[in-house]
Amino acid sequence: MKNIQSYINEHKDRFLNELIELLKIPSVSADSAYKNDVLKTAEAVKKSLEKAGCDSVEICETEGYPIVYGEKIVDSNLPTILVYGHYDVQPADPIELWDSAPFEPIIKSTEIHPEGAIFARGACDDKGQMYMHVKAMEFMTSTNQLPCNVKFMIEGEEEVGSVSLSKFVKDNHEKLKNDVILISDTGMISKETPSITTGLRGLSYVEVEVTGPNRDLHSGLYGGAVANPINILTKMIASLHDENNHITIPGFYDKVEELSLNERAEMAKAPFSLDRYKAALDIDSVYGEEGYSTNERNSIRPTLDVNGIWGGYTGEGAKTVIASKAYAKISMRLVPNQDWEDITELFKTHFESIAPSGTRIKVTPHHGGQGYVTPIDSIGYQAASKAYQETFGKTPIPQRSGGSIPIVALFEKELKSKTILMGFGLDSDAIHSPNEHFGVWNYLKGIETIPLFYKYFTELKA
Ligand code: BES
Ligand code: MN
Ligand code: MN
Repeated sequence: MKNIQSYINEHKDRFLNELIELLKIPSVSADSAYKNDVLKTAEAVKKSLEKAGCDSVEICETEGYPIVYGEKIVDSNLPTILVYGHYDVQPADPIELWDSAPFEPIIKSTEIHPEGAIFARGACDDKGQMYMHVKAMEFMTSTNQLPCNVKFMIEGEEEVGSVSLSKFVKDNHEKLKNDVILISDTGMISKETPSITTGLRGLSYVEVEVTGPNRDLHSGLYGGAVANPINILTKMIASLHDENNHITIPGFYDKVEELSLNERAEMAKAPFSLDRYKAALDIDSVYGEEGYSTNERNSIRPTLDVNGIWGGYTGEGAKTVIASKAYAKISMRLVPNQDWEDITELFKTHFESIAPSGTRIKVTPHHGGQGYVTPIDSIGYQAASKAYQETFGKTPIPQRSGGSIPIVALFEKELKSKTILMGFGLDSDAIHSPNEHFGVWNYLKGIETIPLFYKYFTELKA
């Protein structure tokens, strides 16, 4: 393709400023206080797609937040790429841990990003990465180099489980018909080592409640004589892992796909420094399932983690009390073949079975989704690989990620197409954390690489 680099050089300030404007709108989907901002963001995304050269763009209303859909069909005989992304973001809290305001984006340089990174909630996940596609589209249409048809589907509920999108996909097979789905909502190994995400973990997210006595009690008068829900809950949670950090829920591993030694050896070739990993997190040792490396533990193995736990007195000073109730939120990351609904059921049955008498247990499933793996011999993967080869000067490494984008498995089931995950974020970008950022270099590299995927996919498909 002609002039990608010169186009980016000429327009990069505007590319950055447009993204900064988008990041200023706090589109937090989890918190209804931000409802108007989420809706405003959908409008802004719609306008940006129109400007980028889509022929028709619509705001598709749902029971939740709208889906922005746009397309440009150049020739029905040419392949069609469906781009998916999300315009909603995670809540910004704890706000006091941010060095700058989460919705007042600023560009600062860091050790990893000497040329600067944009600091804001959503900078990497996923507004920045989604917007790379809008700008890549602008480049292709304005230089008359769009080689195929394109459809955009940008949702506003990814961070809360994509409930409305699931229905939209099921109801719109024809509209969404495509030859490949393209997503930038993951990461890569490093700026020097490009990688393409070939797998995502599934997820089962549950909330548990342990009830003991019918009211909070004086811990002196009743202590030792009744079940303390917090003591019980922590004991129950502790029992969910054995001394080798295997999960103890019966049947949990039944469907887990075991990788061959060969596949594991292939994985181990990806550059990784345990020392740097530990230093970046300020820990003196890693921790996890016996028999697996750190990169295996966070990608090809399932996990169970408490995400939050509360109950009793947590205010200033001391209050001598036995709480009536204790709660926790628990997530299980799953690997391909583990069905999230089955696992949720297994968890519920097991958790209820280990509760001692004198307590009552309630398990409430939240949301979940299946894991995903994509083959590397597909045309889509090959096209992505050639694109990176050209812009990074290196063949990208296939790598499975530990994160989840549950809608990807649904895309395959409903639309029968493969997803290519071209993520340009880094683990150090602090997504979902205070001081989330996205490297300016990564942003521009994405804009440069995406049009080449269109080119090679169209060529290989012919
Ligand atoms: N973009 C992330 C997922 C991700 C990040 C995958 C980095 C791989 C690498 C996505 O927005 C996300 O946060 N997903 C949630 C699940 C969702 C159901 C809330 C997750 O993984 O916790
Ligand atoms: Mn995301
Ligand atoms: Mn996210």
